[in-house]
Amino acid sequence: MTSTGPDRTLPPSTSRGADVPSPDELKALVGRAALDHVVRGEIVGVGTGSTVNKFIDALATIKHEIRGAVSSSVTSTERLRALGIPVFDSNEVDELAVYIDGADEIDGQGFMVKGGGAALTREKIVAAQSRRFVCIADASKRVETLGAFPLPVEVIPMAARRIMRQFAALGGIAQVREQDGVALVTDNGQHIIDVTGLKIADPLAFETEVSQWPGVVTVGVFAHQKADVCLLGTAAGVQTLHFD
Ligand code: 5RP
Repeated sequence: MTSTGPDRTLPPSTSRGADVPSPDELKALVGRAALDHVVRGEIVGVGTGSTVNKFIDALATIKHEIRGAVSSSVTSTERLRALGIPVFDSNEVDELAVYIDGADEIDGQGFMVKGGGAALTREKIVAAQSRRFVCIADASKRVETLGAFPLPVEVIPMAARRIMRQFAALGGIAQVREQDGVALVTDNGQHIIDVTGLKIADPLAFETEVSQWPGVVTVGVFAHQKADVCLLGTAAGVQTLHFD
C-alpha cells in the first residue's frame, strides 16, 4: 500500500469545530473527492450506503458529463434517478471504467468487509464488471485485520441455519438480520446473516471457501473484488491509499 495526501482538506469551520469533523462531513468530503475518479463520457458503477449517497449528490453536479450509472441497489437507483442521472441495467454494459463504493472495513491490502447496507450481492456484481474499484470511507473503516465488524452474508433462507452452524464451527456467532421484527429481505429476495467473532486473517482464502458453501449467495468479504484505491476521510483531509 502506498499513501498520499491529505490532498483535499475540509472547510476551515465544521459543525464540531475546526479539527473534529463529523462522520457526515468526512463522508461528504470523500464523496466529492471521488468525482476526480469518474471517467467523463462514460457510465460509472455506483455502490450503496450513506457515504455513496454523498457521492451520488456530488455526481449530480457533473451529470451532463457522464452517460449514466449502473447501480448496486434499489435505494441507490432511486436516488440517482431522482437527481436526473440515467440508470442502466448491468446487462446493458460490458465493462465499467470505475466502481465507487463504501466499505464497513478496509485493510492495508484493499481487502474489505461490505454489506452493512444489505446490498453486497449487487455490489460484488458491479465491482466485478469494473476495471477499478475506488473505495470511499471515513478513517474509522481502516483496520489491520478484517472481522471486528459483523460479517454480512446473503443466504438462501432455507440454508440459513446450516450456514450458521458452519460459522459456529469456525468460532463465529451468526444471527439473521431483522428489520421491524422480521427477517430482512434483500433486493434479491434473500436473507442476511451477520457473523461476529471472526478474525479473517486470509481474506482471499476465506472468501473462496465460504462462497462455495451451499446456500451462500454472497459473502461480504471483498478480496477477489478488492479496492484499487481508497479515499479515506481524515481530520486532516482526504488520504489516498493505493493498493497493488
Ligand atoms: C452496503 C455497503 C456499504 O458500502 C457499507 O455498509 C458502508 O456503508 P456506509 O457508507 O453507510 O458506512 O456495503 O451494502
